[in-house]
Amino acid sequence: MSQQVRLLVGNEGDRDPIDILREALARHERVALSFSGAEDVALIDMVARLASGERAGLRLFSLDTGRLHPETYRFFETVREHYELPFDLLLPDAAAVGAMTATKGLFSFYKDGHGECCALRKIEPLQRYLVNVDAWITGQRRDQSVTRVHVPQIQDDRAFRGRDDTLMKYNPLAAWSSADVWRYIRNNGVPYNALHDRGFVSIGCEPCTRAIAPHEHERAGRWWWEEATKKECGLHTSNTEHVGTHR
Ligand code: ADX
Ligand code: SF4
Repeated sequence: MSQQVRLLVGNEGDRDPIDILREALARHERVALSFSGAEDVALIDMVARLASGERAGLRLFSLDTGRLHPETYRFFETVREHYELPFDLLLPDAAAVGAMTATKGLFSFYKDGHGECCALRKIEPLQRYLVNVDAWITGQRRDQSVTRVHVPQIQDDRAFRGRDDTLMKYNPLAAWSSADVWRYIRNNGVPYNALHDRGFVSIGCEPCTRAIAPHEHERAGRWWWEEATKKECGLHTSNTEHVGTHR
């Protein structure tokens, strides 16, 4: 099964995730590894195994939207203690979120879509953070969604600006399937979010994520009231705008 998925989504010339991580760290002085609190923890484990000199310019970060599951907050702490890597939790602008919830309440996304809430709780803090780095690394995979089938392992991120205006984006797991990631997690004793043992596969904010049945696609539990083609929150705008290049 996993082999089949790889053949469907792989590109000729795809490289080992560790090579992509090494290249990112060698090419750039400041690199940010984005961590959602889900199975992308595999990337953290990979960088933690590199020599400390090799990952000197690296920081981990997560977008703390204020709406994550309690299990995800606990998992952040597990990861922080386990790997002892610099880890930033990015908070949204309190006044902007306060203005939205004062007028529209806490669950407006069920009525008018997730765009506004994600823009305030994820995109704006991400923009603020990325202007201080040269490159960022994500755990995106091509088999995650119809919007991700073309994700390259390395691309220019033209949706955000970096320290020197340009920003590179590395997606080391682009060619891996979910089964590949889980094989890595199990084989290497990597800690994982407790929600995964309760039917959660792709994990985002608590009100916008649900567990899925075995036959469902992994992102069926994200923003389940919206169409599959709209299931990007703006972090990876280039996926839906076809911006960015293979390197
Ligand atoms: S999302 O855009 O729909 O939320 P998804 O959950 O599939 O993304 O995760 C894909 C990648 O986006 C993750 O591997 C991670 O690199 C980044 N990402 C998603 N959510 C967060 C978050 N809360 N904090 C930091 N990075 C995140
Ligand atoms: Fe808001 Fe849901 Fe987006 Fe989280 S995923 S920022 S709760 S709309």
